[in-house]
Amino acid sequence: MEPRSSSSSALAAAALLLASSLLLAARADDPYRFYTWNVTFGDIYPLGVKQEGILINGQFPGPQIEAVTNDNIIVNVFNNLPVPFLLSWQGIQQRRSSWQDGVYGTNCPIPPGGNFTYNMQFKDQIGSYYYFPSLLFHKAAGGYGGIRVLSRPRIPVPFDPPAGDFTILAGDWFKLNHTDLKGILDSGNDLSFPDGLLINGQGSNGNRFTVDQGKTYRFRVSNVGIATSVNIRIQGHSMLLVEVEGSHTMQTTFTSIDIHLGQSYSFLVTADQPPADYSIIVSTRFITPVLTTTAILHYSNANGAATVPPPPAPTTEIDFSLNQARSIRWNLTASGPRPNPQGSYHYGLVNTTRTIRLANSRATINGKLRYAVNSISFIPADTPLKVADFYNISGVFTLGSMPDNPTSGGAYLQTSVMAANMREYVEIIFENAENFVQSWHIDGYAFWVVGCIS
Ligand SMILES: *[C@@H]1O[C@H](CO)[C@@H](O)[C@H](O)[C@H]1NC(C)=O
Ligand SMILES: *[C@@H]1O[C@H](CO)[C@@H](O)[C@H](O)[C@H]1NC(C)=O
Ligand SMILES: *[C@@H]1O[C@H](CO)[C@@H](O)[C@H](O)[C@H]1NC(C)=O
Ligand SMILES: *[C@@H]1O[C@H](CO)[C@@H](O)[C@H](O)[C@H]1NC(C)=O
Ligand SMILES: *[C@@H]1O[C@H](CO)[C@@H](O)[C@H](O)[C@H]1NC(C)=O
Ligand SMILES: *[C@@H]1O[C@H](CO)[C@@H](O)[C@H](O)[C@H]1NC(C)=O
Repeated sequence: MEPRSSSSSALAAAALLLASSLLLAARADDPYRFYTWNVTFGDIYPLGVKQEGILINGQFPGPQIEAVTNDNIIVNVFNNLPVPFLLSWQGIQQRRSSWQDGVYGTNCPIPPGGNFTYNMQFKDQIGSYYYFPSLLFHKAAGGYGGIRVLSRPRIPVPFDPPAGDFTILAGDWFKLNHTDLKGILDSGNDLSFPDGLLINGQGSNGNRFTVDQGKTYRFRVSNVGIATSVNIRIQGHSMLLVEVEGSHTMQTTFTSIDIHLGQSYSFLVTADQPPADYSIIVSTRFITPVLTTTAILHYSNANGAATVPPPPAPTTEIDFSLNQARSIRWNLTASGPRPNPQGSYHYGLVNTTRTIRLANSRATINGKLRYAVNSISFIPADTPLKVADFYNISGVFTLGSMPDNPTSGGAYLQTSVMAANMREYVEIIFENAENFVQSWHIDGYAFWVVGCIS
């Protein structure tokens, strides 16, 4: 797990249930999809300033993965950067092995000139996700793209097939290049506020989504930034939320939706307004000044820009965000693939076998800014943890070195590893007493948010 933080003044705690992932052999009839990706540096100008960006097959953002539930995905990545590189797959439950969802310190990065084959199965998954380089300063250089997992044809979806399916990868961006950002982090300092927001790698009005009047479209929106939560809204249109992180939700209409770092949401938009060009607006949350960017919702029969005022947007308010998050409910009667970790899964009846409390904190250790969980700030070992685990190399880490509860002591450095048992049904309580929003990315597991208190 890796925490992500963004600036704000929230005091929030969320409780999650975590079920350990289940390794299943792929059925022979599940189709395979093959991708070959060549990762290079190249010039990009997202905020009008020339920067060295991470390109995949020459593209920024990288190619989109189009898949269907249960597909086997083989991605052969050639690292032609002069530095090591690793990808992480946001929300994708790893069925083949845990080697693929890489974070430096646990997995082996792909060395310069090296290659790595990601072999995943999107077993029982649907929804909107994205992939991302695993290091913070790499994230600020691109190298990301969208993932769409559609339901198999025989599985009913709780809404009519949309007339189109659009991906919006929105997030903050820095004008400083990745070597300067690395320098700031390496010297133990915090990054300054971002300089702007991008939608699909472009600045304001760099994207135009064309719709036919009267039809309904699906938008899959992910916050691919590294520093700030965002709010999205569309001039003159409401958004019907239908999916969050691969689960169908109770369908609810919103005029604007907050999307925190790493989150992915799908909503439907019906082109039911007079033909015009409408603004899709993305703005930052919890920081001042507020950064804003726009894309265009273009009616194919448009005859000019719309004049209706854009929906109001929250800026620094915390309650709006917490109330909205609490209002989102899983549609438990919607058919569709659903993980069944214990064979007889019945929500509310499965016994929790363990409760873990994780409290994040910000601390200065050896003169450098660090973040800690239950007082431990992770440092990678010389041997990547997955390698030590696979080859039974002792002395690299100690299972259980991470406590199950917050401690009152000061933060310290450790190669912390938490142990868990196969098929354990674990309740995790995330506690954030800091003055910023913390979102967590639980790599490769099946989990459900069951509550949120503040
Ligand atoms: C990747 O791209 C670089 C630069 O275009 C090229 O030199 C290299 O041959 C490509 N590698 C592969 C495996 O396609
Ligand atoms: C991929 O890397 C392996 C070493 O990890 C090497 O043996 C192989 O030749 C490489 N494949 C290509 C096509 O470069
Ligand atoms: C980043 O910018 C600095 C100047 O601020 C420059 O020295 C450095 O070469 C740049 N790095 C890249 C990769 O462009
Ligand atoms: C939940 O899913 C069911 C089954 O597809 C559907 O009939 C129902 O309308 C959905 N409920 C909401 C509130 O979206
Ligand atoms: C939960 O525990 C109770 C008491 O031990 C037991 O009767 C019940 O069968 C368990 N439920 C499941 C789903 O294992
Ligand atoms: C590591 O240890 C486990 C159990 O002790 C054993 O099954 C496995 O074969 C060992 N792996 C290697 C690579 O030696």
